[in-house]
Amino acid sequence: MPKTTTHSIRKLKGRQPIVVVTAYDAPTARYADAAGVDIILVGDSLGNVVLGHEHTVPVTLDDICHHTAAVVRARPAALVAADLPFAEAHYSFDHVLASCQRILQQAGAGAVKIEGGAEIAPVVARLTAAGIPVWGHIGLKPQQVLALGRYKKFGAAAAERDALLADARALEQAGVFALLIELTDSECARAITEAAGVPTIGISAGPHCDGQVLVAHDLLGLTPSEYLPGFVKQFANAGAEYQKGFAAFAEAVRSKKFPE
Ligand code: KIV
Ligand code: NA
Repeated sequence: MPKTTTHSIRKLKGRQPIVVVTAYDAPTARYADAAGVDIILVGDSLGNVVLGHEHTVPVTLDDICHHTAAVVRARPAALVAADLPFAEAHYSFDHVLASCQRILQQAGAGAVKIEGGAEIAPVVARLTAAGIPVWGHIGLKPQQVLALGRYKKFGAAAAERDALLADARALEQAGVFALLIELTDSECARAITEAAGVPTIGISAGPHCDGQVLVAHDLLGLTPSEYLPGFVKQFANAGAEYQKGFAAFAEAVRSKKFPE
């Protein structure tokens, strides 16, 4: 399989829906890649999905680099993108550049996803000028959870919809290769997708985006049902398979059938 690049991702817009899943470790990345996904995202969902945090705010640059390096060691053909953690994009440009440099150079990612709209477009423009492939993230920005007080849907009201369209425009002008749209009204996501020259990847943003992303543990059946967001569809029951395997091992040990 030829290596997926930001260029090949851009070319998929209008041709073929783009498939994105998260992974935080090498085996998951290997299976996702063998299944032919286009992008593997080392999301800061790492925090709540595997590190036991309540949200993504506690996730550090060290955490992201540690897990991105593990994913990259699986040598996937898919593009590996990693999240810039909480608050990082709002430091001085030198600091932001250094953080992105670590994610690409040290951890080996092929792109950096950054939460933020028009307010961070000037920084994004300087990053893309420096050769950092940036994936914008608009709509619900989960890193804002403490300031917002909750996760809420965006883009139903006309003013919010216009603001999101302006965010998308500013980020595209700043050179992002794609836009992630999270938890927005589906008509708003449709309008952004139609207006944007770069692909949109949606999560809980309806069917009109150029691609879809889900958290691996959610779609595989590894997330306890009380934590599973309502929009998620479960495509496998891996949790039950894990449990079956562990139980069979336990039974074999206790009945002295293993080792033979
Ligand atoms: O952190 C993450 O996993 C994400 C997506 C699911 C949008 O940012
Ligand atoms: Na994220």
